[in-house]
Amino acid sequence: MKFPESDVLQGLPKQFFANLVKKVNAKVATGADVINLGQGNPDQPTPEFIVKSMQEQTAIPKNHKYSQFRGDPELKKAAAEFYKRQYGVELDPEKEIAILGGSKIGLVELPFAILNPGDTMLLPDPGYPDYLSGVALAKVKLSLMRLKEKNDFMPDYAELDSDTVAKAKLMYLNYPNNPTGAVATPAFFKKTVDFAKANQIGVVHDFAYGAIGFDHQKPISFLQTPGAKEVGIETYTFSKSYNMAGWRIGFAAGNADMIEAINLLQDHLFVSVFPAMQKAAITALNSDQQTVKELVALYEKRRNQFFSAARAIGWEPYHSGGSFYAWMPVPEGYTSEAFADLLLDKAAVAVAPGNGFGEGGEGFVRVGLLIDEPRFTEACQRIKKLNLF
Ligand SMILES: Cc1ncc(COP(=O)(O)O)c(C=O)c1O
Repeated sequence: MKFPESDVLQGLPKQFFANLVKKVNAKVATGADVINLGQGNPDQPTPEFIVKSMQEQTAIPKNHKYSQFRGDPELKKAAAEFYKRQYGVELDPEKEIAILGGSKIGLVELPFAILNPGDTMLLPDPGYPDYLSGVALAKVKLSLMRLKEKNDFMPDYAELDSDTVAKAKLMYLNYPNNPTGAVATPAFFKKTVDFAKANQIGVVHDFAYGAIGFDHQKPISFLQTPGAKEVGIETYTFSKSYNMAGWRIGFAAGNADMIEAINLLQDHLFVSVFPAMQKAAITALNSDQQTVKELVALYEKRRNQFFSAARAIGWEPYHSGGSFYAWMPVPEGYTSEAFADLLLDKAAVAVAPGNGFGEGGEGFVRVGLLIDEPRFTEACQRIKKLNLF
């Protein structure tokens, strides 16, 4: 028998970056010493105290049972208290927090949970490619909001056509931004709440890089904006703040209807995540966040070192305020992909072409600050020899 994929699965977007991985592997197979700046996987280990907590919790038999539906109430309470301490935001742990097996799950399942086929949603361009998986699974229509450098990569709602705005039911935002490293301002989030209310559009703010802000500027939570909970939610992940990308845990916070829809869907799909891991996640949230401060200092140091090395060869970066990415312009005469191919081919330096994040990313490449300093400088030295800048 043959089991062809369903129409929905066949409609899933192609993984653009699988192609990049293939190209990098082919180059490595030639024996080249590739400096890989193309990835987004945190390079540091999970802090020891969280690993220890997980080890202790896995030894407790009651943690081997099914988790409670809708997650451990203690973790939801810890998440609510974390938001209160970090952002001054009040959340009801039972009605306004949903535990996620990584924030990607929440972001991909939400359109399916609250939209109907044919509804319209708005996504940032450039943006995190996995949002498109949610569009395909829910069979919704997509409209893009172009993020432009002149607006510090925040969408200008006045540029959207009125027909699209009238149809849109949901929009996604993400700051600190992947891929640009841009950070949001309180004024922009206020505009977003006003726009969402006026047009009845739900907002999802993906706060994956929420802990990673530079130049003494702590990134702001969308939920700090007056009225935000009426219009939307924010997704938070342990992957970046605590180097727990492989553990798969996060949460969504905010609008009670959206949280209920996520929880209801998850009742049917997942039950919840491993009880021991939920306990370890509580340890992370309740800690003094010293490891997070050290991690942010490391990324900021790398950003500054990479910026200096790039500027020294005449390659001027966009001044990112957070995340662990640098957003770098492509020299004249090249597309993002042609430039990325050239760097891999002639300098054995891998970067992510901006068009992989949408047409709005054309003209840029993304550099991940996920290796240590001598390699950045070496990458820039190799690029210098190509005489492109
Ligand atoms: C913008 C953005 N959102 C969400 C995620 C997914 O994070 P998680 O590990 O919580 O699924 C990532 C991961 O790279 C990301 O870059």
